[in-house]
Amino acid sequence: MKLLLATHNKHKITELKEALKDSGFEILSLDDFPDMPEVIEDGDTLELNSLKKAKELFDHTGITTLADDTGLEVEHLNGEPGVYSARWAGEGCTYKDNCEKLLRELRNVAPDERKASFRCIITLYGKDIFKTTEGVLNGHIIDHYRGSEGFGYDPVFVPEWHNITLAEMPLNEKNKISHRGLAVKKMVEIIMEMKKAE
Ligand code: IMP
Repeated sequence: MKLLLATHNKHKITELKEALKDSGFEILSLDDFPDMPEVIEDGDTLELNSLKKAKELFDHTGITTLADDTGLEVEHLNGEPGVYSARWAGEGCTYKDNCEKLLRELRNVAPDERKASFRCIITLYGKDIFKTTEGVLNGHIIDHYRGSEGFGYDPVFVPEWHNITLAEMPLNEKNKISHRGLAVKKMVEIIMEMKKAE
């Protein structure tokens, strides 16, 4: 059975393939469908964007699709950037632009007021299938970059109970605690239950 990952992001494909390696699926990604029209992520919640991606790609390919949408929610910024995490510093911005904006916005903010969480919503959508899971990783934003692994806001995010950033953590360690890792784990459990019930 095939499973389509609704992403071109190499970091995410690697992370998700690792997390799903025992699921028994042949894993495909958007790289296997170069002519697929881009899904416009214009929902105002992570839940809506994740469902939109999974549904549009299933409608187009007929393959059960797994889509995720993640936001970084910073307490001091009233939950921003949230659903706008990818393009927070402006259209066409880089991960570095976003991290720099975050460090600027939190300049002079006290260490105990720098709490943040990654929240990931995963949707599995297929014929007679619509399942959603959530994973949350709490932590805080430091005031400088550390580490070169991972992507996005990883170099400035220190997870709760740790003293290294996600960018200083090996990928298999990140997967064990990450928002996406937790949401995928819950989804894999649901998939296994569905298979048992068949
Ligand atoms: P997406 O919905 O998963 O594409 O995530 C939106 C944005 O959140 C990305 O462009 C990244 O900036 C950020 N992001 C998502 N997942 C992670 C992560 O695991 N680490 C750091 N940043 C992330």
